[in-house]
Amino acid sequence: MNITCTINGKQAVYQVSSDMPLLDLLIDNAHITSLRPGCRKGHCGSCIVLIDDRPALSCLVPVFDIRGRDIITFERFQRTRDSTDIRKGFEQAEAVPCSYCYPSKTLITHGIISRNVNPEPDEILAAFALHACTCLEPDQVVRGVLQAGSYRGRRRKYARSK
Ligand code: FES
Ligand code: FES
Repeated sequence: MNITCTINGKQAVYQVSSDMPLLDLLIDNAHITSLRPGCRKGHCGSCIVLIDDRPALSCLVPVFDIRGRDIITFERFQRTRDSTDIRKGFEQAEAVPCSYCYPSKTLITHGIISRNVNPEPDEILAAFALHACTCLEPDQVVRGVLQAGSYRGRRRKYARSK
């Protein structure tokens, strides 16, 4: 089957089998290198991408579901100012994830603060369940996301005032 979608700003048509997950299209057809699939079953959280600006586990998304949709991977996202807000927030809160999960946790954080720059701790921890680990304490995760939200909020406010 043919699937037309936009990956990292480039629209293309991909010829894929109908039972393929988005993860495989990204790696095999679009040659994305930031994804590190560990389980391919929705458990490890290391295959997260943004679909229409929301984080999703690409190993669980069938390709027929991405027709006409906008997919952003960490390669592209890390070059944005939105990504800088999150990096600064993690650093300020001393809650920087390890390099293995940094891409996924950055995209999860974006999914939270792009809708609400001051989310509730429960909301943050529920979203982080997509890529749970025990390296960071829950309060570190919450502080990191809130600090990122604070940077994002200040930047938006500044942009509106100009
Ligand atoms: S590869 Fe593990 S959740 Fe997708
Ligand atoms: S696996 Fe990366 S911070 Fe825990």
